[in-house]
Amino acid sequence: MTTGMSLRTDRIQLSYTGTPVIDDLTVDVRPGEILILTGPSGCGKSTVLRALAGLLRPDSGRVLADGTEVTGTSRDRAVVFQDNALLPWRTVRSNIELALKLRGEPRAGRRALADKWIDEIGLTGFADYLPKSLSGGMRQRVQLARGLAGAPRAVLMDEPFGALDTQTRATMQRLLIDTWRTHPTTVVFVTHDVDEALLLGDRVAVLGRAGEPLRALLEVPQPREPDVDRAVLRAKIITALEN
Ligand SMILES: Nc1ncnc2c1ncn2[C@@H]1O[C@H](COP(=O)(O)OP(=O)(O)O)[C@@H](O)[C@H]1O
Ligand SMILES: [Mg+2]
Repeated sequence: MTTGMSLRTDRIQLSYTGTPVIDDLTVDVRPGEILILTGPSGCGKSTVLRALAGLLRPDSGRVLADGTEVTGTSRDRAVVFQDNALLPWRTVRSNIELALKLRGEPRAGRRALADKWIDEIGLTGFADYLPKSLSGGMRQRVQLARGLAGAPRAVLMDEPFGALDTQTRATMQRLLIDTWRTHPTTVVFVTHDVDEALLLGDRVAVLGRAGEPLRALLEVPQPREPDVDRAVLRAKIITALEN
């Protein structure tokens, strides 16, 4: 089991051509939280995520992972995009086994671990399928498992459920929360969907248009579950009784 890392963009400026897309952005991501990055289309959400991943170097400022400057990609920080690169010639199991191999899992244990992941993402029976034989939602499940199987200390997700239909999307949101609880890690999740932001996020950062400062950084009232709500209330009552 891993715990999440802290991430920080420290006054970063990001650009592709002359004009900065992101100018002087400072955001802290707390260890183990789900931070939502949202904002208007084209405001630079994906750009910030790329910088956090180490795929794009800031013109100025720094990206810090647990206080250490990020200078490139790392398996500590997994990236899950809308439809990224499951290896098409590898089966579901084999795609997940690869993530386990890359994190140094000995060969002997990989298959069983991969099959455990496959059960966890609800794809029991599909281990030997190739990605092209799966629906978009099923592929996204495999991507989630593959991303988390490497035991990353942060997962960076760029509108991962954006292409899914409403029903599948709701299922995936549920699955993400459940999986994140079982395999705690820091998550930075990009979405332009407010409902998704409120459902998944511990906090929501709202980016302004290109070059504008951060518009808002909001705490989302927790817990996510009505049952837990009652549990908190119960705990409050017990505490009050004990005092
Ligand atoms: N590879 C690129 N080369 C040049 N400009 C880019 C590139 N990627 C994104 N941009 C520009 O940077 C801005 C922010 O893009 P992006 O981060 O993708 O926004 P968002 O994810 O919020 O929709 C946009 O104006 C976009 O056109
Ligand atoms: Mg984007």
